[in-house]
Amino acid sequence: MMVMKKFLNAIALGILLLSACIVNATPQQDKEDFQTFFTERFPEISLADFGDGVYALDQDARDQWEAMSDFPPYEEDLERGEELFNTPFANGKNYASCFENDGINIRQHYPKFNSKSGNVLTLEVAINKCRTANGESTLDYKVGDLAKISAYMSSTSEGSLINVVAPSKGNGLKAYEAGKQYFYSKRGQLNFSCANCHLQNVGRKARSETLSPALGHPTHFPVYRLKWASFGTLHRRINSCNKQVRAQPLVAQSETYKNLEYFLTYMSNGLPINGPASRK
Ligand code: HEC
Repeated sequence: MMVMKKFLNAIALGILLLSACIVNATPQQDKEDFQTFFTERFPEISLADFGDGVYALDQDARDQWEAMSDFPPYEEDLERGEELFNTPFANGKNYASCFENDGINIRQHYPKFNSKSGNVLTLEVAINKCRTANGESTLDYKVGDLAKISAYMSSTSEGSLINVVAPSKGNGLKAYEAGKQYFYSKRGQLNFSCANCHLQNVGRKARSETLSPALGHPTHFPVYRLKWASFGTLHRRINSCNKQVRAQPLVAQSETYKNLEYFLTYMSNGLPINGPASRK
């Protein structure tokens, strides 16, 4: 009798501790669990190499990809991005005037939570804000000049470690939690979450494609996809995935996608920026 009671108490305590853990999981704890999941699943891959996506997992695909990197398909667009970044606005000011360190080597600090506006500030939104503050029109958030400028800015951060500030309370924490929830929620006619493919089934095949790890997803954007024959931002890429599971794609830089980017990028804290990169 006594033994049974002790046993039940122990179970009750276990459940209590477990639920306390889930309820009180801080972003720091989430990140540790997230990174540990992938490093234990693939002990032979270094943390930095997760930023290479499927090419960290599939040697054949990696060989082909590396062969291409002598003449990267994005070279011209990247040069154009640099040119655009350095071209003054009509008022004589330039992008550099809007950013810390003149906009060089800063990508690793984005996105950030802006407590004044109460929402997540991505680098892409900051680029457009810089434009409107200087009397210029906004650019499309998925393709074209903005993606090129963003790609150039990423390139100046090559090797710098992602260093997104974790929210500790208030609206910042809410935005983070909303992004996390989006990542783990099932959606679309196929009823898959991001986590189902890029965490649970990482390394397995979906149709003919190897599923890349979610750890490292934001390190190399904007990405030049051969399929697009252009640079596309992270939000454009996420839309492709949402279409794939026949879910409603959202507007690039919508609140939800910004929150998702906040969560996803924080999960990759400590990984080096290695973009822009090319993908299939
Ligand atoms: C049905 C499975 C599936 C789901 C669900 C899915 N994706 Fe994907 N995703 C893919 C495939 C396949 C690719 C291309 C191969 C690869 O890189 O994984 C891809 C590629 C990506 C890439 C580019 C990877 C790189 O290295 O550049 C990102 C980023 C991404 N997905 C994010 C997401 C996010 C965020 C969600 C949730 C909104 C999501 N995906 C949902 C299958 C999926």
